[in-house]
Amino acid sequence: MTIPTPTSEGLAALGGSAPAGVPDESVLARLAGEFFAALPNGLPGPNSVGSFGAAAPQPEVPPEIRLGDVGPQLTAAAPVAPVAAESVPLDHAGAAGKAGNPALGVPEAYAAALPTFSPPASPPPLAPSTPYYFLGEASAVQSAPQGALPVAENRVVPQSFGLPGEAELHAILAEIAGDRRAAAAPTATAPGHFYFLDTGLEPSRQAEAPKPQPSAHPAFDVQAVRRDFPILQERVNGKQLIWFDNAATTHKPQAVIDRLAYFYQHENSNIHRAAHELAARATDAYEGARSKVARFLGAASTEEIIFVRGATEGINLIAKTWGWKNVGEGDEIIVSHLEHHANIVPWQQLAAAKGAKLKVIPVDDTGQVLLDEFRKLLTSRTKIVSVTQVSNALGTVVPVKEIVAIAHQAGAVAVVDGAQSVSHMRVNVQDIGADFFVFSGHKVFGPTGIGAVYGKRSVLEDMPPWQGGGNMIADVTFEKTIYHAPPTRFEAGTGNIADAVGLGAAIDYVERIGMDNIARYEHDLLVYATRGVLTVPGLKLIGTARDKASVLSLVLDGYRPEEVGRALNEEGIAVRSGHHCAQPILRRFGQEATVRPSLAFYNTCEEVDALVAVLHRLARGKGRIGR
Ligand code: ALA
Repeated sequence: MTIPTPTSEGLAALGGSAPAGVPDESVLARLAGEFFAALPNGLPGPNSVGSFGAAAPQPEVPPEIRLGDVGPQLTAAAPVAPVAAESVPLDHAGAAGKAGNPALGVPEAYAAALPTFSPPASPPPLAPSTPYYFLGEASAVQSAPQGALPVAENRVVPQSFGLPGEAELHAILAEIAGDRRAAAAPTATAPGHFYFLDTGLEPSRQAEAPKPQPSAHPAFDVQAVRRDFPILQERVNGKQLIWFDNAATTHKPQAVIDRLAYFYQHENSNIHRAAHELAARATDAYEGARSKVARFLGAASTEEIIFVRGATEGINLIAKTWGWKNVGEGDEIIVSHLEHHANIVPWQQLAAAKGAKLKVIPVDDTGQVLLDEFRKLLTSRTKIVSVTQVSNALGTVVPVKEIVAIAHQAGAVAVVDGAQSVSHMRVNVQDIGADFFVFSGHKVFGPTGIGAVYGKRSVLEDMPPWQGGGNMIADVTFEKTIYHAPPTRFEAGTGNIADAVGLGAAIDYVERIGMDNIARYEHDLLVYATRGVLTVPGLKLIGTARDKASVLSLVLDGYRPEEVGRALNEEGIAVRSGHHCAQPILRRFGQEATVRPSLAFYNTCEEVDALVAVLHRLARGKGRIGR
């Protein structure tokens, strides 16, 4: 097992010198060198995670997939160097994957090219007194059983990148949650678990899993990605912006900005309404965007995609159409305790109007939904089950496929709120089996004010419209109106045409990078960030589920969340502090508000280090730390 190592710059960022109790740099270098030199062949050496300590031999691999090039850039170093604003490629795809590119990250090809790892008979020992600042407070790391490395052939696991394993992380999180029994239970016998790579097979049958195919995407290059987002060069309070408020909204790549400008320069018109050239261009662009959304979600047809303002409007649409028609007095609606207010209030309104009952799936102390409790809530009166795929407040990845299947067994319709999932993992609505799925464009690098509802065609066809007006009608007389078929039936008036087109460009963008590349990179970054924040004395993570995406919700002893948010802002770091429009789940954990850094694939380990440095400075109650 290798552990990310801090560089001298990284340590400097923590206060100008090694933290108390940590040996100085030369001792660290010697210890790290001895530690890595003791690793068996085939394990990543120090250069896999930085240049700290004595160099260890690296395996022979082609230059474009050198060990030193993979994974998030783990050298906790100086702030990200400003990137020249001049080259903002619309399509950076060609920039990655070139031999010798020093900024490659998490390439799928890496897994395929790795020599087959044989787990060592006995695991490499941890350094007796670990010098790594990550481990200063986290004694669970040393007490956690190591077991065999969960490395299967052609399977990318954190250790492939020199990152800590999931078993280790889970042990830390369990320890934090006070569950020492869970912390002691070895999880290392199970392979590293990734929601985005899960084969669904028992550990003993992993070898039967299909081998990863060569990727259609170039290797992930975080620096090339960053050049695509001009706002990341913005300065705030004299510091380069660090955007950790991705759960609230994401930034827009130049390709999306350019696509919007192009629409207004060359295509702007109302749609579906005229015989002129620009109407045809605008209609083509808008319907083209619908096709992209359908492809992105794995829908069976474009007719299953309704454009709305965002996930909130999408859930309201479902509640006020399907819900209004099908939910009656005494019926039941089920949501989970994790839900955003947008997936609570519309159902409450429906329940109040119809005399129905709202039931809530409880969560365990890690913030994961309790499926057995969910089963107990279902009755013959359950009409609709609506759950989030990823919690915006805690980051929990919810097993929506199982929830949908269980809901269907009970005869209920299932809605999945994908507002926080679509930017972090591949989604396939047919695989999930949901009757409805909603998401917002602005959370997946598209414009604000546009989003989509996926609805199964058979379900949509049986639904009344919710708003009346132009566009949604086939024929109107004063006596009667005949509505269009879905999806037009649900798109009254002039929609947000340009932003739908912009959303299509955002989808093209993330698909070029590859959702699997994004998911892997972000997962590793989340592991790195989790370990980093857990070194801060007096910091408590709220939400420690085994499967998480993007979000670190935390509170810090002695500070109100908004004070932490303000201190971070002084350093140019944007996080959300507050209740995150999810008060019930925060109250479940005894909080009214938390600080919520949330990650996207353009964030880096260096940015995480800057965040952790400010949290350390606050925890010490000392003056400002520059970066
Ligand atoms: N739903 C958004 C958030 O979680 C606004 O911050």
